[in-house]
Amino acid sequence: MVRVAILGAAGYTAVELIKILLRHPEVEITALTTRQEGEPHVAAIHPQLAGRLDLHLENLLPAAVVAKADCVFCCLPHAASAAVVAEYLEHGVKVIDFSADYRLDDVATYSDWYGGTHPDPQRVGNVAYGLPELFREQIVNSQLVANPGCFPTSAVLVLAPLLKLGLIEPDEIIVDSKTGVSRAGRTPKLTTHYPECNESISAYNVGRHRHTPEIDQIIRRFAGIETQVIFTPHLVPMDRGILSTIYARPKTDAGEEQLLEKLRDFYRDAPFVRVVDHLPATKDTYGSNFCDMTVRIVRGRVVAFSCIDNLVKGASGAAVQNFNLMYGFPETMSL
Ligand SMILES: NC(=O)c1ccc[n+]([C@@H]2O[C@H](COP(=O)([O-])OP(=O)(O)OC[C@H]3O[C@@H](n4cnc5c(N)ncnc54)[C@H](OP(=O)(O)O)[C@@H]3O)[C@@H](O)[C@H]2O)c1
Repeated sequence: MVRVAILGAAGYTAVELIKILLRHPEVEITALTTRQEGEPHVAAIHPQLAGRLDLHLENLLPAAVVAKADCVFCCLPHAASAAVVAEYLEHGVKVIDFSADYRLDDVATYSDWYGGTHPDPQRVGNVAYGLPELFREQIVNSQLVANPGCFPTSAVLVLAPLLKLGLIEPDEIIVDSKTGVSRAGRTPKLTTHYPECNESISAYNVGRHRHTPEIDQIIRRFAGIETQVIFTPHLVPMDRGILSTIYARPKTDAGEEQLLEKLRDFYRDAPFVRVVDHLPATKDTYGSNFCDMTVRIVRGRVVAFSCIDNLVKGASGAAVQNFNLMYGFPETMSL
């Protein structure tokens, strides 16, 4: 049994993670953290867990957490995460970090896009990126894994093989993504307040969304190809799910069938990627760890589509997939 602690246990990714880990035969959840006073019962914070987990959320310091846990899932916001991860690693526990703190190649890019100085700069650029479909070997041997951003997961899973196999040109790639509101987390904000976003669709952070450098850098890490994607996210009035529509110039005269065949071949050993013939919808991947993708050719352009659930394949499902690889369990266990 692996004893597991979850930091930031009151949040959306945490509740999804708890639900997955409760059905994991090799896991015991032993600690949940919060900054809140009063040590609330988990069922008071997440009523859907009533009767399923008898634990209180506690305001614990790392020294107290490591006494109870072998592995830490860090579901904290960026910066708050790197402020504690180093201490956990020094205690010898394994860490899966949900934030952006360890995903990028260099601290300069981090400071440009996230602001401030990185709390743990020497690790940046040397951490396994938790997308098992592309970086399985690095994840298996890691003490720390940077769980990917949800938009990058949906974009990179399609783009990386198409670029690596020389099927699309690296310039002029456009990633147009739609997301449900849970992507913004549970902490209330004006833009995700119900009357603001219900019955409305809007683009946001145009040209400056923080997942932009992550998409470029991870493509470069995997395929050795420089891109400067134009990434535009849109908020749509649904709870969860991401659909990315991606436009690129073809590099070959391969038709739709051939592109689909190449993708199927590339992902033949990837249990959570489904290369489908139909146009995928967020309902198809709702609550699951699947990424559904397909391609079309429209007026000489490759148009690719990719769907995930932002809280599962985009966060907690991917984290458990990484956990399984880090501990030598079957990759699909509990997923
Ligand atoms: N939502 C998604 O779709 C998604 C997808 C991929 C990755 N992520 C990443 O996963 C992480 C968690 O996201 P989430 O959606 O679960 O967020 P969330 O719902 O806002 O939960 C984060 C929790 O962390 C705690 N927290 C907030 N600020 C903190 C701070 N400064 N120091 C310590 N604890 C703090 C809060 O709990 P208390 O107030 O109880 O302490 C909060 O409930 C973030 O890094 C996010 O970027 C999210």
